[in-house]
Amino acid sequence: MTSLPTLAETARAMVAPGKGILAVDESNPTCTKRFEALNIDSTPDSRRDYRELMFRTPGLGEFVSGAILYDETIRQKAADGRPLVDVMNEAGIMPGIKVDTGAKPLALFGGETVTEGLDGLRDRLAEYREIGARFTKWRAVLNIDNEKPTAACVLANAHALARYAALVQEAGLVPIVEPEVLMNGAHDIDRCYAVTDVVLTRIFEQLQIMNVDLEGIVLKPNMVVPGMDCNQKATTEQIAELTLKTLKKRVPESVPGIAFLSGGMSGEESCRHLDAMNRMSSLPWELTFSFGRALQYPGLPTWAGKAENVSAAQAALLHRCRMSSEARSGSYEASKDVAAA
Ligand code: 13P
Repeated sequence: MTSLPTLAETARAMVAPGKGILAVDESNPTCTKRFEALNIDSTPDSRRDYRELMFRTPGLGEFVSGAILYDETIRQKAADGRPLVDVMNEAGIMPGIKVDTGAKPLALFGGETVTEGLDGLRDRLAEYREIGARFTKWRAVLNIDNEKPTAACVLANAHALARYAALVQEAGLVPIVEPEVLMNGAHDIDRCYAVTDVVLTRIFEQLQIMNVDLEGIVLKPNMVVPGMDCNQKATTEQIAELTLKTLKKRVPESVPGIAFLSGGMSGEESCRHLDAMNRMSSLPWELTFSFGRALQYPGLPTWAGKAENVSAAQAALLHRCRMSSEARSGSYEASKDVAAA
């Protein structure tokens, strides 16, 4: 009998050389919004068809170690009646599951949120593990303006992330710890750096307090970038340098890997920045991607809900995954990316 992989082995496999994680865990309302913008009907079957086309993309497993799913998807069957989880495993893509229940208003802190989902989580984790999940995700959301995020908001979210991570490890699964400092706003890159630095500090304090084994987690942070409405644009080098500066200060070397979210950056931008970081110096952890939109576009509009577009959509997805894989190895060539797109 072969023994089950340890948490550290699973975490290392998630960030294995050349590979990253595909985020397709949009909730039904978010998926519906994206579908409707493209005149695609949003039904359980159409959402299943879209996810299935991704998992059946020939060669995807070369660049993608796992995919994060939403509750509806992990329970679905492929069009041929086989569980989607089996289709993924056959393709060499580990199933993961988003387990938070969303960002809710933080009481007495107008406009700020704390991510919820701890109640009943132990039981839900046992069920997801039974269905076949190997890892999980929980996303904390931090908004920047002159006064935000407050220390209370950062602490509440860091504490919840740490309690989540502890429960997930207890269940034998690997937690993706995702603090997202949003790009919305007119703040400059230095402000994003300062906020990201405080957020990461609090998170690793809380993870340690809660006894979380850092060898068995994957961190999923934002890159340090100026707000979308900031008129001082940053260069790729500035973004790469400031992102690595905070990560090197705050993320212990025992963490096996860091997998960035794309947060609204395009596929090309996300790749340029990730590539620059991977070229800069030798790093103590794997530095890879867990992009959602930066991998799914332009594949989603290419598909547009039509069976005849499946191969073209798969080619678009595979291209973004290949480019992201090159970026996580420091061998991305922007000119090649644009030419092929
Ligand atoms: P984006 O890369 O589109 O930001 O999505 C990643 C994700 O999983 C957000 O929680």
